[in-house]
Amino acid sequence: MTCENKIVIVTGAASGMGLATTRLLRDQGATVYAVDRQEVALHAACAACGAIPSVVDITSSRACDELVARVVEEQGRLDGIANFAGVLKRTGILDCSDEEFDFVMETNVKGCFYLCRAAARVMVAQGAGSIVNISSIWSDVAAPGVLAYCVSKGAVSQITRSAALDLAGTGVRVNEVRPGETKTPMLASERGRALTPEEIDGKLQQIAATIPEQRLAEPEEIAAAALFLLSDASSYMQGASITVDGAYTAC
Ligand SMILES: NC(=O)c1ccc[n+]([C@@H]2O[C@H](COP(=O)([O-])OP(=O)(O)OC[C@H]3O[C@@H](n4cnc5c(N)ncnc54)[C@H](O)[C@@H]3O)[C@@H](O)[C@H]2O)c1
Repeated sequence: MTCENKIVIVTGAASGMGLATTRLLRDQGATVYAVDRQEVALHAACAACGAIPSVVDITSSRACDELVARVVEEQGRLDGIANFAGVLKRTGILDCSDEEFDFVMETNVKGCFYLCRAAARVMVAQGAGSIVNISSIWSDVAAPGVLAYCVSKGAVSQITRSAALDLAGTGVRVNEVRPGETKTPMLASERGRALTPEEIDGKLQQIAATIPEQRLAEPEEIAAAALFLLSDASSYMQGASITVDGAYTAC
């Protein structure tokens, strides 16, 4: 299970799971194009691990195409992409605004689609490649107060399965990691205001108590699953989902 010498794009690389995956891939000897819209944090992350920073807003179809074209121009190929970039709005059916719904769809659904399509076109021509999407435990079951997010993650799972069927037999694989509650800035977010460190601690402890394993996932534990799907060790996995949730969805 190695990604040594692979050329990989990781989105959402300035924070949380995308950052952990970027570091793990670099430790493994992969060349990583680290993508995020947060310029300062991205450059700091890349300086620390030797990834190549690429400031891109994945809600732009053209920017996604240009990103993939740049990698192929510079490296001659693209072996893998891990689509971690995502957003969450804590709003439900009564209070979710049009803008909030669109914002979540633009990033989580359209951004994922743009990058899957751009990568797939290159990878099919190569006859090889691995696309890894990041859905959520909220892909299949819902949660209260995060309507647009649940809808968007259900769509990510369908992008994964549909693309896998479209690409089966081409040498290109499409799979997803389905994380549970993971210790990242996204999990500690609240609508309309920043939480104090004490509030964040309290909130994370509350969430951890609802998980059979009685703790949150570390971003590195999600990165390990992404690494497996990017590597040749998962060569017969196609259209599949790896759930990493401390048994949350087992009950
Ligand atoms: N944290 C959790 O508990 C959890 C659980 C299940 C799934 N997920 C999913 O895992 C993925 C990673 O989440 P995380 O918890 O590490 O979140 P995070 O907020 O720590 O990191 C997300 C990163 O995506 C970037 N991003 C957002 N929109 C972007 C855009 N339009 N263009 C480029 N970059 C953009 C952000 O700048 C940020 O650096 C997300 O898709 C999220 O939905 C998270």
